[in-house]
Amino acid sequence: MVRIAIVNMKGGVGKTTTSVNLAIGMANEGLRVLLVDMDPQGNVAHSLKIRAHQNTIYDLLADDMVVDQVIRTGVRENLDVIPSSNVAFGLENRLAGETLREKIFSRRMKAVTAYDFVVVDTSPAMSLLTVNTLLYVDVVVLVVSMDQMAIIGAVQSLAGLKRILSAFESPTKEIMVLPTLFNASTNGSKETMTALQEDPDLAPYLVPLVIRQDVKLSYAAASKRSIWEYDPRTRAAEDYSKLVDYLLKRLGHEENEKTDVVETEAKAEFFG
Ligand SMILES: Nc1ncnc2c1ncn2[C@@H]1O[C@H](COP(=O)(O)OP(=O)(O)OP(=O)(O)O)[C@@H](O)[C@H]1O
Ligand SMILES: [Mg+2]
Repeated sequence: MVRIAIVNMKGGVGKTTTSVNLAIGMANEGLRVLLVDMDPQGNVAHSLKIRAHQNTIYDLLADDMVVDQVIRTGVRENLDVIPSSNVAFGLENRLAGETLREKIFSRRMKAVTAYDFVVVDTSPAMSLLTVNTLLYVDVVVLVVSMDQMAIIGAVQSLAGLKRILSAFESPTKEIMVLPTLFNASTNGSKETMTALQEDPDLAPYLVPLVIRQDVKLSYAAASKRSIWEYDPRTRAAEDYSKLVDYLLKRLGHEENEKTDVVETEAKAEFFG
């Protein structure tokens, strides 16, 4: 099971859009996916038409319910969801006095093992919920929208998340920087992309693909569907499909099979 967080302290950069479409894209590949909303704005539920008045991330983290009680099963084929709602804004205060409060999510999620991927959407803040997310996951995807202030925000987010991981002596995470809202016809996007490629902090983590600007992503979210359900012939569907393929290769879902083959061949050779 691989656990992925989608982060950026900057708001409106495509975190939720990426979380939802990545999760459904992986589920479409036949993988078992759990999508978790750690943002009190509750946008995952809004994007997928899930009722989130009760049995939410709040109940899990406040220790009122076990994880099975908050998972919505069968939201889509192969996709389960733990939704959030604005009640979760109260979690910061509720958890303030807890011991090891930064690892509550990790503890509460221990029983969750039956998925290929867990995708966690986060809020635009280095809040206690975001810190809990960072300490739980294996992979951190920093989404960076291609606008003027993007690089500054991304550098701040990267520095912030690295500080937290080292303060908690958290095992090394795989970090990826994903450009979103890219528009090749504007100088702004091109300049930001060049700046990103040349930035000494961010460039080492840059993935070799972009999510282009496509208003169909907003229409899809407004109609409470993934981009494939809304219109699979859009460039956004093409871009998110490429992202799914890239992550599956990089995170070993195809590599594992290859490793098995290599090992089998090596064993065959060894045993004559
Ligand atoms: N590639 C894209 N092209 C065009 N519009 C996009 C793209 N990605 C996201 N959007 C739109 O931009 C807006 C913000 O996206 P989204 O909600 O995913 O951002 P966010 O980072 O999750 O925001 P917040 O920080 O508030 O949680 C939404 O209206 C969404 O539909
Ligand atoms: Mg969001």
